[in-house]
Amino acid sequence: MSSPAVLWLLLLLAPVATVVAWRPWPHTVLNATNITGNGGRPTTDIGVSKKYEGSSEFVHLMYHMGPVLTTNITIYPIWYGAWTQSQKQILRTFLRSISPANPAAVPSPSVAGWWRTVQLYTDQTGANVSRTVIVGAEKNDRRYSRGKSLTRLSIQSVIGDAITARTRPLPVNPRGGLYLVLTSTDVAVQDFCGQVCGFHYFTFPSIVGYTLPYAWIGNSAAKCPGVCAYPFAVPAYVPGARSAGRPPNGDVGVDGMVSVVAHELAELASNPLVNAWYAGSDPSFPTEIADLCEGIYGTGGGGAYTGQLLVDNSGAAYNVNGVSGRKFLVQWIWNPILNYCSGPNALDQ
Ligand SMILES: *[C@@H]1O[C@H](CO)[C@@H](O)[C@H](O)[C@H]1NC(C)=O
Ligand SMILES: *[C@@H]1O[C@H](CO)[C@@H](O)[C@H](O)[C@H]1NC(C)=O
Ligand SMILES: *[C@@H]1O[C@H](CO)[C@@H](O)[C@H](O)[C@H]1NC(C)=O
Ligand SMILES: *[C@@H]1O[C@H](CO)[C@@H](O)[C@H](O)[C@H]1NC(C)=O
Repeated sequence: MSSPAVLWLLLLLAPVATVVAWRPWPHTVLNATNITGNGGRPTTDIGVSKKYEGSSEFVHLMYHMGPVLTTNITIYPIWYGAWTQSQKQILRTFLRSISPANPAAVPSPSVAGWWRTVQLYTDQTGANVSRTVIVGAEKNDRRYSRGKSLTRLSIQSVIGDAITARTRPLPVNPRGGLYLVLTSTDVAVQDFCGQVCGFHYFTFPSIVGYTLPYAWIGNSAAKCPGVCAYPFAVPAYVPGARSAGRPPNGDVGVDGMVSVVAHELAELASNPLVNAWYAGSDPSFPTEIADLCEGIYGTGGGGAYTGQLLVDNSGAAYNVNGVSGRKFLVQWIWNPILNYCSGPNALDQ
């Protein structure tokens, strides 16, 4: 559901992590109760629990009978605060790369290849998550209509404002519509940086008038890049930590957001009303298909290691290609057939 800052606790626990470091491979046994305690709930404000549920020994990902996004998906970005055209272009190009008009023009490993893992999830009728993801109308909220400090509920009000705006309101699309609230570097959001880098949920009819799946993702560049723009930035308080390399689009905050956007989209598609695909017995703390693979971007990833990444001529780290020659780094997704995390840049698949 959310993207907690699990990695830093893992780094701090490095000596332990070498013993129990989470690996997505089925043969690896690790002991979750050991680290997480507290019934698998975070013992600090860093959400350490989810990582350790990743061993296939402990993952009981289940389908809870709710809807999955099997019809064409349309994403409606809401740019809240101060966004430059070049920042918007990076995120838009990523979204457009999920189902490109001309897939053959994008070299492997591709963003579309990454989405194929998400497409493995099905609903009660056996229909898969949609292959088609379209970028729909966008809305700018340049004047911070709900202030520079948002709660989870005021994010719903931002969406309500966007669909009821006097000029060019966003369409209300309960059939495959996903609303993405993207906040600029100067906007504080409840739990941002401490516990989450993004989250998804659905809107309440009492606030927005409709039940619409949505996600929020913040640009962490000014507040906590070491937490939310990992691995392009690492926190100063972690001794010896090194960043993975330069961000592929030259913007630490936005390149870091791409992976969080990817995380939330994968979960929205497979669990839009939070009653479909998740692991764990407590529906208020679901462990979803991207939570299981946080911090893993390539083969061998786990613990404090990103896994094998690609590096371009300029030294930028990435793992997928998109349209217009863009490159991105996105975390892997739990593969329900293989029973471990997978991505299109895997070396052994
Ligand atoms: C995990 O740790 C708990 C408590 O330390 C222990 O009871 C359990 O047997 C361990 N499980 C594995 C698979 O090692
Ligand atoms: C944690 O796990 C290790 C390895 O399985 C075991 O040796 C140790 O006793 C465990 N610690 C606790 C507190 O259960
Ligand atoms: C869904 O998208 C595809 C393109 O991938 C298009 O051919 C099809 O007409 C769309 N379906 C609907 C119902 O809009
Ligand atoms: C649909 O999901 C099933 C079950 O995971 C999988 O076997 C199949 O390959 C998927 N189809 C597509 C088009 O992804």
